[in-house]
Amino acid sequence: TTATSRFVVTPSTHQLSDAARAEQLRVLSFGRTFTDHMVVIPYRDGAWQQGEVKAYGPLMLDPSASALHYGQAIFEGFKAFSQPDGGVKTFRPEANAERFNRSARRLAMPDLPVDLFMEAADLLINLDAAWVPKNVGESLYLRPLMIATDAFLGVRPSNEYLFVLFASPAGAYFPQGVKPVTVWISEDYVRAAPGGTGEAKCAGNYAASLVAQAQAQEKGCDQVVWLDAVERRYIEEMGGMNLFFVYQEEGKTVIVTPELTGTLLPGITRRSLLELARDLGYESSERKLTVQQWRDDVAAGRLTEVFACGTAAVITPVGKAKATGFELSINNGQNGPVTMALREALLAIQHGTVADRHNWMHQV
Ligand code: COI
Repeated sequence: TTATSRFVVTPSTHQLSDAARAEQLRVLSFGRTFTDHMVVIPYRDGAWQQGEVKAYGPLMLDPSASALHYGQAIFEGFKAFSQPDGGVKTFRPEANAERFNRSARRLAMPDLPVDLFMEAADLLINLDAAWVPKNVGESLYLRPLMIATDAFLGVRPSNEYLFVLFASPAGAYFPQGVKPVTVWISEDYVRAAPGGTGEAKCAGNYAASLVAQAQAQEKGCDQVVWLDAVERRYIEEMGGMNLFFVYQEEGKTVIVTPELTGTLLPGITRRSLLELARDLGYESSERKLTVQQWRDDVAAGRLTEVFACGTAAVITPVGKAKATGFELSINNGQNGPVTMALREALLAIQHGTVADRHNWMHQV
């Protein structure tokens, strides 16, 4: 055991052998395998206490812990990538730390200092560095979360919380790999309303999405697309990912994404692609987009590709969209060139095979 003022590190006594770990890393899906260690930091008496880095394992929670009842629960997701020099870098972890705090504020939870979030991540990744996969398209997915732990059934913000961070080696998020998905534009459900929690990465948003996702699957689609709650006309996002629309306008390629109105999740991949577009000679635009425009612009040949983006799946092409009364095919249901160029460019930065012009990578 080693200790600093901020963390006590107790290495696991049952770490996987090199051979057993190699076997786990051989075929990777998403979110099923976890590394040897995790970080926990309790919050009480108005302050974050000394954290612990210890063996990955179950948490002890009081059944009356308020997160289990009233949903004060937030999370994040970011990735660490093996670099050509053998080192490990994370992609824009400060951006995740900052969004974590915005989510915390919306859920009446305490901020976690960004440098504490960063230190926790670097400690865990260093300790479990052997778990960072080496292949392109693979990474170590970091999952920070915060839950309310007061043993109290009254409805009010908890006084005690637990920050947890663990890691999971990850391959492709969608089992079919990078193949276009078919989306169902939901008319029966909405993800977020003005003044609600749509901008926060809170557990409840994902719980509320599941029945709509199930309905999309009943309709023969892979994913749900959300419309705005008020007019039910504007496209917001897809399942748990942001959407982009590739336009050909007066000889220029423009990538368009719905503007952040307060009900969309402000994706870090979304933000990065808006910046990366310029490097590839594309223009980018954040604006409102209706379903009717989507249909008209595909029909007119102006809108040539659609894709979704997020940390977990990076970029996923959308090949088809369905709703009550219509169906439309985008780029003949094939992976589009702009979509794939952006995907390649982002992965090259993350895997360190091109210069990190935007200073997005953090050396662990
Ligand atoms: C994403 O990374 O795109 C996510 O939203 C995380 C997902 C696994 C919940």
